[in-house]
Amino acid sequence: MSILSGVSSFFGLDIGTTAVRLVELHGTGATKTLSRYAYVPIEGKISMSDSKADLQKLAQLIDALVHESGVSTHNVAVGLPSSRVFTAVADFDRLPMNELGKAIGYQADSLIPTPPAESKIDWALLGDSPKDKNKVEILLSSIPNKFIEERLDMIESIGLNVIAFEPENLALPRALVPPGTTLPQLILDIGQMGTDLVISVADAPRLTRAIPTGLDAIIRAAQQNLNIDEKQAQQFVYKFGLSKEKLDGQVYQAIISTVDLLAAEIDKSIKFFQTRYVGATIDRIIVTGGASTIPEFPLYLANKFGLNVEIGNAWRNVAFSADRQAELLALSNQFSVAVGLAERNE
Ligand SMILES: Nc1ncnc2c1ncn2[C@@H]1O[C@H](COP(=O)(O)OP(=O)(O)OP(=O)(O)O)[C@@H](O)[C@H]1O
Ligand SMILES: [Mg+2]
Repeated sequence: MSILSGVSSFFGLDIGTTAVRLVELHGTGATKTLSRYAYVPIEGKISMSDSKADLQKLAQLIDALVHESGVSTHNVAVGLPSSRVFTAVADFDRLPMNELGKAIGYQADSLIPTPPAESKIDWALLGDSPKDKNKVEILLSSIPNKFIEERLDMIESIGLNVIAFEPENLALPRALVPPGTTLPQLILDIGQMGTDLVISVADAPRLTRAIPTGLDAIIRAAQQNLNIDEKQAQQFVYKFGLSKEKLDGQVYQAIISTVDLLAAEIDKSIKFFQTRYVGATIDRIIVTGGASTIPEFPLYLANKFGLNVEIGNAWRNVAFSADRQAELLALSNQFSVAVGLAERNE
């Protein structure tokens, strides 16, 4: 989806596994002002389904949310689940922009995992390659046409106008990293079904990963290993988390191997990053998403990687009135994607 010029107002829409969220901002510059935000829970994981009936239900849910929220526009920037998108950073010969586009097109076959004819491919120039002076670094993404067409139809069916689709992991740094940050930041959005990882340098994502371990897997591990039901597992995980003292460390024991699956992927990503950007060190880890508030989870990551771990504030680059503070902070860990989408400069 290309971006239409002249569109001045739009809102960001995150269609997550457990909820749909929207955010509209106004103003220009680094800090925009909050106009509207709203969310509605989704039952039964229908946002992961491609069936017509579920898409219709989802459309109705979004339609009701949009009306209730009072957003001022029908223009929308829509997040794409990172698990459905392929993103990679690749080096290309330094060429004029139009020739670069052609070169990427010719090589698409070897760059993306799905057939180019059945995929929507997009790219952005990041800058000089860290590996080769004669090359530039390109951020490449692709998504199956079928998925994007179904989403587009669904959203247009309720009278909205899609100005952009953006992978969730590319929206995250905009919300969570202060403008002007130059040191590499590792962002983790630990959601219901999986974790989005992105390492950004100077406002641009340099490495992204969709890791299939999220809250769902952690709760399931607690459920199975402690032989309890799902609801109780959820309560235990949020009450005791990764504490080795509480409940004799039983919850820790039950979930640690699942948490370590995620930690192993984070470790691989850091190593991969440091191989490509020799000498670069990660400044900190910023966590967000439903699982980011599991007790002692941030501390566990901090000790494991020897890095500062901070719980991200989705609203950090947004201005709002002081009486909203408590309410917004309580929602922060599920709003990073919607805020990041709303902060696009289109
Ligand atoms: N304090 C808490 N106690 C219990 N559950 C919580 C708590 N905080 C968050 N959650 C759970 O976190 C989950 C939502 O996480 P998040 O909003 O990151 O997921 P999502 O965006 O819907 O999913 P995904 O990004 O995987 O599509 C919900 O299941 C919610 O119940
Ligand atoms: Mg999410």
